[in-house]
Amino acid sequence: MCQTRASGRGLAAAGFALFAATLAFGEPKTSINQVSLKGDAGKAVAWKDLAGDKATVVVFLSFDCPISNGYATPLAELADVYAKKGVKFVGICPCDDSAADIAKKAKEFKLPFPIFRDETLAATDALGATHTPQSFVLNAKGEVRYGGQIDDAYSKRLVRNKEVTQQYLKDALDAVLANKPVKVAKTDAIGCHIVRDLRRGTSSEVTYYRDVLPILQNRCQSCHRPGEVGPFSLMTYKQAVNWADDIKEYTVSHKMPPWKPTGGVAFEGERRLNDKELNTISKWVANGCPAGETQDAPPDKKFVDGWYLGKPDLILTPSEDFVLGPTGRDHFRVLVMPTHLTEDKYVVAVEVRPGNPRIVHHSLNFFDTTGNARKLEAEEQAKRKEHPPGPDGVDYGPGFSSSMGIGFRPSAADLLKGKAPVGALGGWAPGILPKYLPEGTGYLLPAGSDFVMQVHYHRDGKLERDRTQVGLYFAKKPVEKQMLGLVVPGRFKTDAKPAQGRFGGLGYIPAGDSHFIAHGATIALEDCTLYAVTPHMHLLGKSVKITMTPPDSKPQTLIDVGEWDYNWQEQYFLKEPIKVKQGTRFDIEAVFDNSVSNPNQHSNPPIDVRFGEQTTNEMLFGFLGATKDNSKSGLSWVITQRPVFDAPRR
Ligand code: HEC
Repeated sequence: MCQTRASGRGLAAAGFALFAATLAFGEPKTSINQVSLKGDAGKAVAWKDLAGDKATVVVFLSFDCPISNGYATPLAELADVYAKKGVKFVGICPCDDSAADIAKKAKEFKLPFPIFRDETLAATDALGATHTPQSFVLNAKGEVRYGGQIDDAYSKRLVRNKEVTQQYLKDALDAVLANKPVKVAKTDAIGCHIVRDLRRGTSSEVTYYRDVLPILQNRCQSCHRPGEVGPFSLMTYKQAVNWADDIKEYTVSHKMPPWKPTGGVAFEGERRLNDKELNTISKWVANGCPAGETQDAPPDKKFVDGWYLGKPDLILTPSEDFVLGPTGRDHFRVLVMPTHLTEDKYVVAVEVRPGNPRIVHHSLNFFDTTGNARKLEAEEQAKRKEHPPGPDGVDYGPGFSSSMGIGFRPSAADLLKGKAPVGALGGWAPGILPKYLPEGTGYLLPAGSDFVMQVHYHRDGKLERDRTQVGLYFAKKPVEKQMLGLVVPGRFKTDAKPAQGRFGGLGYIPAGDSHFIAHGATIALEDCTLYAVTPHMHLLGKSVKITMTPPDSKPQTLIDVGEWDYNWQEQYFLKEPIKVKQGTRFDIEAVFDNSVSNPNQHSNPPIDVRFGEQTTNEMLFGFLGATKDNSKSGLSWVITQRPVFDAPRR
């Protein structure tokens, strides 16, 4: 451990008067109204000017803490509502950001109340705050009547409860305003620890600058740097110490860096720490996070600005920004970008460049020649014209919203046209560097296609804008092998209930079943070469495994994802392509949890969940990327296959 917490220290150091007041918690502490808070230009602000006539809310915030930022909008709303009732809000930032930085951030997050920095932690100590965010309600006399969570949105850091059922801060305020006792006077704050002492170790066995920083640079900073998708930065010693316990916990448990396959063949770009790196981190934390010497530090890591693969042959840009609101569920947007191509092209690389990497969690890329995507976009844009979003509008922009896919399937007539009407062009997630397909292969992008991209937006507590661009790189040499899809379909329970909808034949997952096993298989009817695997499920999936069984040998695991996470799905490229013989069978087997205890459960109480495209549907597919070994066999745009739903091969 390299930090100690919550030990009520340092009163003398701050040099302010001691004033013993009895808190609701029964411990004598210095009163907050004795702490001198400095406003703009370092001028002391008197507590009486900050306190509300009837009550005051003191809330500890940190702009480095994703949970704290996520509460900006609810706090701003509360402050607004209660201002009319004689309540004032005061923000305290136990950080060393400058007053100007704090003011800038407060403006970005639209926080309507004053926020003071508390670099000596005098105010933090006075109220015994341990985390950000943490809220306190003081009555007119300055006595603390409530301390803790704002509401019960979280059960643990980053673990959200399905619903908010307790409004602790609001209830406490209402009680104080009504001169009634506060029912719940204290809750344990959930969020980021306020670091009180950097108990800096002195051992030189493992140091930050020499041993730990290189790991953070190579394994974490691609996402954990300002403006990127990681919820906090890991660029400085102080940041690393701040997050030290979590860095250890998340790396040892292999939750970070995010890399989901737990078994199978070797994949390109594996983001997994090796034992040596894990040991270094663990030892560093155990030794008290020693800094070491700055001269041992490697040079800063350079990250490429601009197109990683150089100038693309075709750059597609949405016509306007997408505007994402500060709070609510994640938003899934389908952007439709006409390519205006007059001839067929082979795409050998796709580079996705998020306009605002903080909020772009991943994208799935397709092309569409059916015009369906355009139609859906036109419908949504027409609705927007009818009901304009207004100056405070959020979640609007180009494209249309679609929770789980691109919102449509090609019709049977489309499929008979001989060329793929709709096709996948890979995906992008943070940390994946764009790369070229294997030599001699390419995705066919038919003339006149629209590039259709589903973007998963992730909110960060403030209003954000994004304009994600796509760069397409076309084959310069003839492409002999078209990258094609081989789909391993899964199937749920198919007895008893009548089939419904397009995927009706693929069944349903019974309500309440916490360990539902689904399976499916397909047999390749021609020789091919396998390059990539992409397992796909929705929110209730727990684990998924794809195996392949050649006609004359035993099953081999291609990929095993032990803990499925909808947020981190990727197309995994095999380090060594595999030759697949005609008659090879591919099995997919997955476990789903459709019980109340699944934190991703969307229905309360759980309902039978059918195969389908909506958030409240599930899917099970293995998408394989392969090329035909014999170009004349079967349909040109798909590997010929025969789905089977008999007993799984394991
Ligand atoms: C590919 C991008 C990426 C890389 C690389 C990455 N992270 Fe993360 N990290 C994220 C995202 C995004 C989150 C937020 C949770 C999520 O979306 O899964 C996160 C969350 C975390 C959390 C949890 C934060 C909390 O509030 O509980 C920790 C700790 C963490 N990362 C540490 C690390 C460390 C240490 C490394 C390097 C060894 C690393 N991450 C590498 C993207 C990344």
